[in-house]
Amino acid sequence: MTTVVKHFLRDDDLTPAQQAEVLELAAILKKDPFARRPLEGPRGVGVIFEKNSTRTRFSFEMGIAQMGGHAVVVDGRSTQLGREETLADTGRVLSRYVDAVVWRTFGQKRLEQMATGATIPIVNALSDEFHPCQVLADLQTLIEQKGELKGLKLTYLGDGANNMAHSLMLGGVTAGIDVTIASPAGFEPADWVVAAARARAAETGATITLTQDPQAGVVGADALVTDTWTSMGQENDGLDRVGPFRPFQINKELLAKADPKAVVLHCLPAHRGEEVTDEVLDGPQSVVWDEAENRLHAQKALLVWLLEQRTQLDQA
Ligand code: CP
Ligand code: NVA
Repeated sequence: MTTVVKHFLRDDDLTPAQQAEVLELAAILKKDPFARRPLEGPRGVGVIFEKNSTRTRFSFEMGIAQMGGHAVVVDGRSTQLGREETLADTGRVLSRYVDAVVWRTFGQKRLEQMATGATIPIVNALSDEFHPCQVLADLQTLIEQKGELKGLKLTYLGDGANNMAHSLMLGGVTAGIDVTIASPAGFEPADWVVAAARARAAETGATITLTQDPQAGVVGADALVTDTWTSMGQENDGLDRVGPFRPFQINKELLAKADPKAVVLHCLPAHRGEEVTDEVLDGPQSVVWDEAENRLHAQKALLVWLLEQRTQLDQA
C-alpha cells in the first residue's frame, strides 16, 4: 500500500474549494470545540520549533488536546534535526510515531525535504517564506467581520518580502480577495511568489497590486494588515529596517484613508509604535485578539481536514 499524503507547506497547497472547506470547519469548531476528535486514542502530532513562538505553540498544543490527541512539542535544537540526519529520514521516522508534524523552521526547502520522506501530513507553522496557518486564521477573522471574502480589498503594509506578505498574497487571492502589498523599495515580494499568486488569482478572479505608496495603497481597503519590520532571523541582515518603513506604519491618519469600516489585522507579536500605533492596535477597528484566537480554531480545522485526506491506494 502507498499512502497519498496532503501537506500544507504553503497557502496554495489548498485549492480555493479546499480552503473554503477548512474555513467552514473552523467556524463549526469555534462554536463547538470538541465537535471533531480524530486524534482520540490518543494519537500524536509532533510540533517542532526552531524559532520562538507564543501563539503557534499554545494554539497547536491546546487544539491537539481538544481533538483527543497528544502533542509532542519540542525545541528543534534539542533534536537531531540540526545535526547529521537528513530531513527526509526524519520525516520517515516521525511518520512511524505521530499522525502529523507541525514545524516552524527557516527555509521553505527544509519543509519540502522533510515532506519527501514523510507519509503523514507536514504543516508549515512558519518558515522564512510563508506563514500559511496564520493566514487561515486571518481569513476566518475576515469572514466573521465581513461575511464574504470574495471581492474584499486587503492591503498589507510593511516588509513585502516576508512570510506574512507572501502568505497573505497567496492565501488571500485563493479566497478571491484583491490583495495590495505596499512596501518600501527593496522590500518587494519575491518574484516567484508573485508569479504563483498571479496564477492562483487568474483562477479566482482576484487582483494583486504592488505599490511603494502606502497612502494610495490603503484607499478603499476593507482590511489593513501589517507585521514586524524585522522577522525572526533578520535581526543582523545589515538592512535599515526602520527608516524606509516609517511611512508604512498603520496609524490613525493612514487608517482614515481606508474604508470607514476597515478592520486592522496583525499576526502579532506587535511592535507598538513601529508598524502600528497603540491607538490603532487598541482601537475599535482592531480585530487582532479575535485573529489570535482564531489560530486555534483554524488549525484544528486544518488538521482534521488533512487527516481526512489520507487515502490508501494500491501500489502499482
Ligand atoms: N503570529 C504568530 O505566529 O505568533 P507566534 O510567533 O507567537 O507563534
Ligand atoms: N514575520 C514574522 C512573523 C512572526 C509571527 C517573523 O517571521 O518573525
